Amino acid sequence: MNNNETITERQQRELEYHREHARINKEILEKPVNFDVIFNKNRRWWNASWEMYTYLLNKGLKGKNVLVMGCGFGDDAFRLSKAGANVKGFDLSPESLLIARKLAEKENLDIEFQEMPAEQLKYDDDYFDIVVARDILHHVEIPLSISEIRRVSKPGAIFCFNEVYSHSITDKIRNSDFVDKWLYPKMVGFVYEGKKPYITEDERKLTEKDINQLLSSMLEPEIKKYFNFIVTRIIPDKFLALRKLDRILLIILSPISYILGGRVLVGGVLKK
Ligand SMILES: C[S@@+](CC[C@H](N)C(=O)[O-])C[C@H]1O[C@@H](n2cnc3c(N)ncnc32)[C@H](O)[C@@H]1O
Repeated sequence: MNNNETITERQQRELEYHREHARINKEILEKPVNFDVIFNKNRRWWNASWEMYTYLLNKGLKGKNVLVMGCGFGDDAFRLSKAGANVKGFDLSPESLLIARKLAEKENLDIEFQEMPAEQLKYDDDYFDIVVARDILHHVEIPLSISEIRRVSKPGAIFCFNEVYSHSITDKIRNSDFVDKWLYPKMVGFVYEGKKPYITEDERKLTEKDINQLLSSMLEPEIKKYFNFIVTRIIPDKFLALRKLDRILLIILSPISYILGGRVLVGGVLKK
């Protein structure tokens, strides 16, 4: 970034982490982009990403100006572009953006990828019809980012986010000595299947307070669903039957799913 001097210490740490993340994941350039979530009519109702796309596709994407926040290697940008949207994506990491640009070129997709922090966007006012945030809000300063999202969005624009989440009650349990010092070290290898967890020093799962803050910048949400009660916390996400069961449990327990869920999907109209 040219304006390195304006980057915060938190952004600098995120940048360094994701530079390395891009470096060790270069093989992604060899893999084809998977567009299943756009084209497959059999929707995976138990999967937050699929549900996010079901919601966005129902909005009609053709010709819409869509912003993908913290786009990383560009997966969401590619899919939304393939569905007919005019997509722009940004991220802090130039290395991730390089991968995204190369993949977009390979897929023949015309997407503008730019380097910038979520807290200080370079886009014009009132430009976007839809803003999509997947696994980015828990890396950023939410009040600053949300005011930027509102600034660059047209009146009546849609904001959709899909984020890791932990109610402050479950957060307390997670951070208790028993879980943190005893249970977690025993479970981590199983849950992450031996891989190093992808967690930065500064990221914080969204809590119900963050959700309330985000919701206060929107009209009544059109979609608000919780996922991952046990999956990704105690068991890995590779067991399909358990993923479905996990989602069914959260549907049955919907009055308290906001306490139990480990992921939240929200979509609705932004207040201007
Ligand atoms: C967990 S990754 C998610 C990437 C992508 N949204 C996805 O779901 O695959 C978080 C991304 O946010 C970016 N990031 C972290 N802090 C940021 C900030 N303040 N502004 C913009 N991007 C940021 C990182 O570089 C990284 O690509």
